[in-house]
Amino acid sequence: MMKVFLICRGMRLKHPEDARRVPPVFSHLCVSFVLAVQGAFARGVVADYRSRSGKFCVRIFKKCEGAETMGKEQWAAVDRYFAGMLIPPDPALDAALQANAAAGLPPIDVAPNQGKLLHLLARMLGARTILEIGTLGGYSTIWLARALPPDGRLITLEVDPKHAEVARANIARAGLSEIVEVRLGKALDSLSQLVAEGHGPFDIVFIDADKPNNPEYFKWALQLTRRGSLIIVDNVVRSGAVADDANPDPGVQGVRRLNELLAAEPRVSATAIQTVGVKGYDGFIIALVTDDQ
Ligand SMILES: C[S@@+](CC[C@H](N)C(=O)[O-])C[C@H]1O[C@@H](n2cnc3c(N)ncnc32)[C@H](O)[C@@H]1O
Repeated sequence: MMKVFLICRGMRLKHPEDARRVPPVFSHLCVSFVLAVQGAFARGVVADYRSRSGKFCVRIFKKCEGAETMGKEQWAAVDRYFAGMLIPPDPALDAALQANAAAGLPPIDVAPNQGKLLHLLARMLGARTILEIGTLGGYSTIWLARALPPDGRLITLEVDPKHAEVARANIARAGLSEIVEVRLGKALDSLSQLVAEGHGPFDIVFIDADKPNNPEYFKWALQLTRRGSLIIVDNVVRSGAVADDANPDPGVQGVRRLNELLAAEPRVSATAIQTVGVKGYDGFIIALVTDDQ
């Protein structure tokens, strides 16, 4: 049994032809494990289990692949449905996405329903000051800044001059230039500047930049917040890769190290939520700062 397990563990089905190589003698025993490795929609597929042959594995692979595509289409359709119902068209936000695309920025801003979640969290908290790490074209910045009172303040950190320029234009078009500062430079440098300049505590810190630096960003965020502040970190699921401790991707390792910090930090209480939608399969962490620094 152990031998079967080890053989199965080594399998990586990437193509229907790979499935043909599954030795028939193992296929019966391996079905549930292979499905788990594929990580996909086991319930629908298991119902079709009839054969022990390699052909059966090919059929399973194709179904998994098809189900995954269907899943993504469905997630996007449901996102569009809810956005259509709950998030009315917004000239400034829509124009920001158009300007981002026209300037060739990657479409890695938060989805509209995630942007609105950030906005609602800021309103629930009565936030007056927000720090964002990772601006891109300012789409999430606009959602967050709109939750602030007229004398509120949002500082957003961006390393790419082109992104910062597009963001400033988008923020100006949204009428938010008075309360938003786009600070250009490496976030780690900007964060130490903010501390040196005496900024903080911020009511919310939204971390959404380069993922390998997440642990460092979290340490700065903790220094720049107070009891009752929220620290939100985006893209922490990474299509499920976060659960694989052997995954060498620096972004995955960054999220895993961040989780170790969170788990060991008595000054925060945190949770993580998986999400699916127009942006695929990912998720975010929310940490409440429970003690003053
Ligand atoms: C995922 S995008 C931010 C999306 C934005 N929060 C939104 O939802 O509209 C990440 C941004 O972080 C920026 N970034 C990456 N590494 C950075 C660093 N070391 N310092 C500051 N910004 C960085 C990238 O240039 C990119 O614009």
